[in-house]
Amino acid sequence: MKTIDDYIRSIPDFPEEGNIFRDITTVISDKDGLQLAIDEMAALADVDFDHVVGLEARGFIFGMPLAYKLKKGFIPVRKKGKLPCETESQEYDLEYGTATIEIHKDALKPGDKVVIVDDLLATGGTIEAAIKLVEKLGAKVEKIVVLVELKGLNGREKIGNYNIASVVAYD
Ligand code: PRP
Ligand code: ADE
Repeated sequence: MKTIDDYIRSIPDFPEEGNIFRDITTVISDKDGLQLAIDEMAALADVDFDHVVGLEARGFIFGMPLAYKLKKGFIPVRKKGKLPCETESQEYDLEYGTATIEIHKDALKPGDKVVIVDDLLATGGTIEAAIKLVEKLGAKVEKIVVLVELKGLNGREKIGNYNIASVVAYD
């Protein structure tokens, strides 16, 4: 029986020397890998919630089928300037510089319960920013589900006291 780790392709020195890039395209190109990924992420979304919040771009790949499978709505968090209606914005740090992500202000109501979904947790900056966006709208983050966690980058410590689950973790 294969595990998700068997479907992930690890590319040394991409995008820069010393980094091992965990490529999820080989998970989703395989029909069994894709099913396993969504089934395992669905099993980790074991809380009472209303919406999946997916993070552009790779978080959309996993968030949408997960929302469909669990019969929830899907809310996209997009990179700055892409959403057409009124937005909340949150800046976060990248290795070099900063980035901004946005959510439609009317996408969530106070008290709504969400699961945040992304492909990968590295430093935690992206997910920390997504949590802030959800909370600016008065909604509650019940759980964070990712396919891959890079433990060495200490994303969990940065994110703090939230319920985080990953299908596969690398040191
Ligand atoms: C990658 C990945 C996560 C984020 C993780 O996205 O898909 O969203 O980085 O890194 P962090 O935990 O250090 O914030 P990227 O910003 O490369 O965008 P993409 O999904 O559009 O490729
Ligand atoms: N995003 C940030 N770090 C990454 C890594 N090592 N592999 C794939 N995506 C990433």
